[in-house]
Amino acid sequence: MVSICKSQCFFAFILILGMWSYGVASRELQESSMSARHEQWMATFGKVYVDAAEKERRFKIFKDNVEYIESFNTAGNKPYKLSVNKFADLTNEEFKGARNGYRRPFQTRPTKVTSFQYENVTAVPATMDWREKGVVTPIKASVTICYTGIDIKICLLILFGTRTGSCWAFSTVAATEGINQLTTGKLVSLSEQELVDCDTRGEDQGCEGGLMEDGFEFIIRNHGITTEANYPYQAADGTCNSKKEASRIAKITGYESVPTNSEAALLKAVANQPISVSIDAGGSGFQFYSSGVFTGECGTELDHGVTAVGYGETSDGTKYWLVKNSWGTSWGEEGYIRMQRDIDAEEGLCGIAMDSSYPTA
Ligand SMILES: *[C@@H]1O[C@H](CO)[C@@H](O)[C@H](O)[C@H]1NC(C)=O
Repeated sequence: MVSICKSQCFFAFILILGMWSYGVASRELQESSMSARHEQWMATFGKVYVDAAEKERRFKIFKDNVEYIESFNTAGNKPYKLSVNKFADLTNEEFKGARNGYRRPFQTRPTKVTSFQYENVTAVPATMDWREKGVVTPIKASVTICYTGIDIKICLLILFGTRTGSCWAFSTVAATEGINQLTTGKLVSLSEQELVDCDTRGEDQGCEGGLMEDGFEFIIRNHGITTEANYPYQAADGTCNSKKEASRIAKITGYESVPTNSEAALLKAVANQPISVSIDAGGSGFQFYSSGVFTGECGTELDHGVTAVGYGETSDGTKYWLVKNSWGTSWGEEGYIRMQRDIDAEEGLCGIAMDSSYPTA
């Protein structure tokens, strides 16, 4: 018996040792393949880090995010997917901080109540996609990612400082490009940088955030806005180039806000032109959104300005808003997100019906 036990115990010991070392080895393998994925990802998005310690720190965050993204996709219980995109080495806190471009002073400044030219609209098309009508310029990118070759310090400052908060300018410009095309028949890409540099009088503070309504007011006051080609985006505050500013290409005469907390009112507006909307884009679902109809989680702390350029319904009956973002084409559906429409809460998903506005010709 004793000898049998000895050999059984020995085999058990060998088995346990084997399983343990297999566990260590497979963990090491996973770790090394994760590390290879990080390297691959860095190459894809042109990421560089200041030193080895920063790289190690970013690797840990990357690993956590990859695990989160993969378990989300594996669960498959939401109508949208996530991907390991260019924000994959940022914690959600950093992501929120870096993108805090839309400062909404809720208590101090309620949405302006204006007239609403679409209030009596009764018939709207079942679906709308302003891209198909040639009213929307290609996706732009307000986020600067650290490409090899750029001075690393500047690049990190742009990414983690307050300098990326220019989403309001992209939203203002996209809505203005829309109304300009609808009135002139010409689609012209217009300048966000002019707004960032020159619109420093009101609440808009360059890259430190602002409101789309103030952007429209600037364009009205300035008697127009110049083109992207003439005054390209620099991803940093500059001084206003008044020579470039003087080349006024697109004009608007006014702006209106959409009655707040009504997706029905927003629908009437979007059926007629691209609309600047404000959303809460701070969640990790938004950070890593890749495709499908986004259904949250998200709150209503508006921190991002984007543009509603259409709406529709999927084959399984999920209604959505088609939203143009300014995070480049590698994010979402080639730079766009479809967000669930007609939800129970009057604020709309992520607060999309809370604070919308548009320029008038
Ligand atoms: C909508 O209809 C009402 C009632 O006829 C009218 O008073 C109002 O001016 C109309 N609004 C617009 C924007 O045309």
